[in-house]
Amino acid sequence: MRKKIVAGNWKMHKNAEQTKELLNELIAKIPAGIESQVIVAPTFVNLASAVDHLAATAIGVAAQNVHQAEGGAFTGEISADMLTSVGVNTVILGHSERRAIFHETDALIASKVDTALKHDMTVIFCFGEELKDRQSGNHFNIVENQLRDGLFHIEAANWEKVVLAYEPVWAIGTGETASPEQAQEMHEFIRETVLKAFSKEVAENVSILYGGSVKPDNAKEIFSKPDVDGGLIGGAALKADDFVAIVTAI
Ligand code: 13P
Repeated sequence: MRKKIVAGNWKMHKNAEQTKELLNELIAKIPAGIESQVIVAPTFVNLASAVDHLAATAIGVAAQNVHQAEGGAFTGEISADMLTSVGVNTVILGHSERRAIFHETDALIASKVDTALKHDMTVIFCFGEELKDRQSGNHFNIVENQLRDGLFHIEAANWEKVVLAYEPVWAIGTGETASPEQAQEMHEFIRETVLKAFSKEVAENVSILYGGSVKPDNAKEIFSKPDVDGGLIGGAALKADDFVAIVTAI
């Protein structure tokens, strides 16, 4: 059975003190015994303290990026070994902001995927079309290409360590969200694409999250769709009450 997951991508928000405050609120407000897996992704500098802070809870911690090399002269970068050495075993890769602002290509993302998997990390693999692609009806092609070029080189056994996050770029931080029907249509296509490239077993077991302006008032409807297994949340993950409302909507 695939897992239900709600992950908060904090992007470049929250300093050390604010990180502790938000984590304390989440610890206090997320109901015990919920079935879905909850993950938070603070900035690099706050990862180690977040892991310590959440040690006695079921809340997981993810990094927002990793460098593809094992180590070396890469000023400002962070390796997979550094992340796992502080207890971070999950990483978000391929986010549209990394692709658009930091020029990450499918090939680069593919090599980051390899490095993360080599270190036994779980990869939350992000992808999604831009507005122009949807308007021109090219969105399925774009998504298929991103999956093929960034991810489908992995071995079938590694799918246990992969979570997919469909994030249409036009819905990120815009307040405009894909309708539940648009999300379901694309998620079904993604699962079908995984099935064709790998197997029914892999396709049935992979969690496919939706991301893009998920809020407390639209989460339930989006999450109710059969191929939507949770969400990757940006803005609404920064407020405890909103994030908890989304976590419990699943
Ligand atoms: P918003 O929820 O702010 O649209 O961001 C989504 C996102 O980019 C999560 O990775």
